[in-house]
Amino acid sequence: MRTDTAPIQMVDLKTQYERLRSDIDRRILGVLESTAFINGPDVTELEQDLEAVLDAHVITVANGTDALQVALMALGVGPGDEVITPSFTFVATAEAASLLGAVPVFADIDPETFTIDAASLESLITSRTRAIVPVHLFGQSADMDAIMNIANRYAIPVVEDTAQAIGSTWKGKAAGTRGAFGTLSFFPSKNLGCYGDGGAVITRSDELAERARLIANHGSRKKYHSEVVGINSRLDTIQAAILQAKLPHLGDFTARRRDAADRYDAHFADIPGITTPHRSPHSRHVFHQYTLRIRRHRDLMHDALTAAGIPSAIYYPVPLHEMPVYASNPEAHVRVPLPETERAAQEVLSLPMHTELTEGQQARVAECILSA
Ligand SMILES: Cc1ncc(COP(=O)(O)O)c(C=O)c1O
Repeated sequence: MRTDTAPIQMVDLKTQYERLRSDIDRRILGVLESTAFINGPDVTELEQDLEAVLDAHVITVANGTDALQVALMALGVGPGDEVITPSFTFVATAEAASLLGAVPVFADIDPETFTIDAASLESLITSRTRAIVPVHLFGQSADMDAIMNIANRYAIPVVEDTAQAIGSTWKGKAAGTRGAFGTLSFFPSKNLGCYGDGGAVITRSDELAERARLIANHGSRKKYHSEVVGINSRLDTIQAAILQAKLPHLGDFTARRRDAADRYDAHFADIPGITTPHRSPHSRHVFHQYTLRIRRHRDLMHDALTAAGIPSAIYYPVPLHEMPVYASNPEAHVRVPLPETERAAQEVLSLPMHTELTEGQQARVAECILSA
């Protein structure tokens, strides 16, 4: 029997596994017995079930980084092109463009939502801009109306990095389904996570879906008949089976995260210097992360939690434009000041957030922060 004095984890995959174990084990065993390890029936079934949930085509791939690469390849992004992304994100968002020889150009973020500042996009668009990649960071959609408005005006396709936001919505529609493509990650700690790497490309376009599927499979529809240069990016059947066991619980996972966020909000309401996550009226926040903004002494709070044995994390301590990979060529990547990105990197602190978090554990987290 677990008590609230049990160690608090940033993400508790073990307790969740124990709750869902019989179904997960049964499905994994089914794959082992069938030996259909690659492109087994669970992969197709998962794609169909996700299509019903998201109301879009779903092409599963090996991970969320590949999903971004496949989407950009399907849009023809290549050497010399520019791709606008936020700098306040995980490196994969920009890396996918760089891998294709394109240049990531960094936009600042909106200080309330931590997502791309749509108002800054226009000043970054050039004749070389071939894609805009907003990130639905921490589980809430970027302002897709403003982004699509500008993107449509300049006829630039949008790839929504939805790695952290499955289950989120923008004006009632699934996050990731407004742009040309959305991309998902099934990394274990994600809101819908498998037990290894996994990802998916989503799109409402029949033509783009076909193209993405082709690219993810060596550029071939028919074995030994490659039509274009592609990659080998497949979700393996065991991971698909695990996701099939978990998918029916996605609504419950989201509700648990949102409930936990409400409880944290109550602890930190009206505490000077601490800002709780903003909730956009147009997007359902699925709290992949519960991220506070702490105006002063963020690192002191981080250290106090660590000393008390409570995990917390800084997502992200180093904006992409300050990482050696991009800082070595600032003229290419930084065309406007990025003050909100730099401020966020100094002020954010993400607290333990997962589907198994208890009220008692959250009270301990809050008590530690408030006494610090
Ligand atoms: C915003 C964002 N984009 C892309 C990725 C890449 O996903 P993956 O780790 O599955 O390659 C991640 C995962 O960490 C992410 O958080």
